[in-house]
Amino acid sequence: MKILVLNGPNINMLGIREPGIYGKESYGYLVDMLKKHADEKGVEVSFYQSNHEGTLVDAIQQAYYDKVDGIVFNPAAYTHTSIAIADALKAVSIPTVEVHISDVSAREDFRQISYIRDIAVRTITGKGLEGYRLAFDFLVDGE
Ligand code: DQA
Repeated sequence: MKILVLNGPNINMLGIREPGIYGKESYGYLVDMLKKHADEKGVEVSFYQSNHEGTLVDAIQQAYYDKVDGIVFNPAAYTHTSIAIADALKAVSIPTVEVHISDVSAREDFRQISYIRDIAVRTITGKGLEGYRLAFDFLVDGE
C-alpha cells in the first residue's frame, strides 16, 4: 500500500507560523513522525509540500500514475479557494482524507468553505498533527 502525505501553502512554516494555532512542532517533525508510524505499519509513504496551486495539481495527477492508494491532504488556504485542486482530486479518484491542524469550524467565515470536503472520504479538523496520523490510519485500516 502506498500513501501520499500532501501539504499546501505555509505548512512548511509549521513551528514558526502562528504557534498558538498550529503548534510548536516543525514540518520536519511531522514528516519524521509519520515516517516512523508508516514504517511500524509496513506502509510505503511519500511526502510533498508546495506553496503553489498548480504544483499541487501536478502532484495529485502524478499520484495517479504512481498508483498511490490514498492521500492524506492538508490543502491549507487552497481548501477555501481552489476549484483546480478539487477537480484534480475528482479526476484521479484516489481516496483522500482532508486534514486541518486547527479547528476551522471555529475560525473566520472565509474558512467555512471547503471545496475538498465533498470529495474527501473523511475530514479531520482541530486535532493538531495527530490528525495526520488519524487520517493515515483511516486510509490504511479503515478506522
Ligand atoms: C489549515 C487551515 C486553513 O484555513 C489555513 O489556511 C491553513 C492551515 C489547518 O491546517 O488548520 O493554512 O489548513
